[in-house]
Amino acid sequence: MIKLPRADFRGKIIEDCIRERMSKRYYRAEPLKIEEVAQILWAAQGMINKEKRSAPSAGATYPLKLYAMCGNVDGLEKGLYLYLSQEHALEEKINEDLRKSLCKCALNQEWIEKAALVLIFVAVYKRTTMYYGERGTMYVHIETGHSAQNVYLECVSMGLGTVAVGAFHPGEVKKLLLLSKEEEPLYIMPIGRI
Ligand SMILES: Cc1cc2nc3c(=O)[nH]c(=O)nc-3n(C[C@H](O)[C@H](O)[C@H](O)COP(=O)(O)O)c2cc1C
Repeated sequence: MIKLPRADFRGKIIEDCIRERMSKRYYRAEPLKIEEVAQILWAAQGMINKEKRSAPSAGATYPLKLYAMCGNVDGLEKGLYLYLSQEHALEEKINEDLRKSLCKCALNQEWIEKAALVLIFVAVYKRTTMYYGERGTMYVHIETGHSAQNVYLECVSMGLGTVAVGAFHPGEVKKLLLLSKEEEPLYIMPIGRI
């Protein structure tokens, strides 16, 4: 387990972040700092107090798991990590640079291969559907949007670029990331310096 630096709660004012938010698909080939990665992960799914995460969740069921594919991050080996919200830490999953393969799973969208960091939002539906039945599925998708928007805005705040990617083959991504049966990939966000 790799403990991450504490998130810095200061930044640009929210109106500037909203106004400047735009999808960015081309990144400089420069590394991200581990502090920047920590800040983005916190914005996406970090803890705001002992129980609650940064994005709202139906019934606080927290169905999302956030994977971080690190390709060019100072102080982190290339590979796939799982973000542990409570611990604000990373758990190493696969010790290999999978960006090129992930790019192939996503219709060769090259921004995935070129990004220093790629987030993969994965859902465990049953955490929510066991309380809300079929509507729970929709709730999980809505929650993913909340979380992804936090990433967009946090990236603006730090001068980084990102784009939400929904066009990919989920079965191929599942295989590549060695996800379990209950884990469903929903969204991919490549991130880099612009
Ligand atoms: C659900 C969803 C799926 C998307 N999928 C992709 C994608 O696969 N590839 C991509 O380059 N952009 C994707 N986008 C980004 C949109 O193309 C982008 O948000 C849109 O063109 C508006 O531009 P803006 O984000 O700069 O305002 C997606 C956006 C959403 C909301």
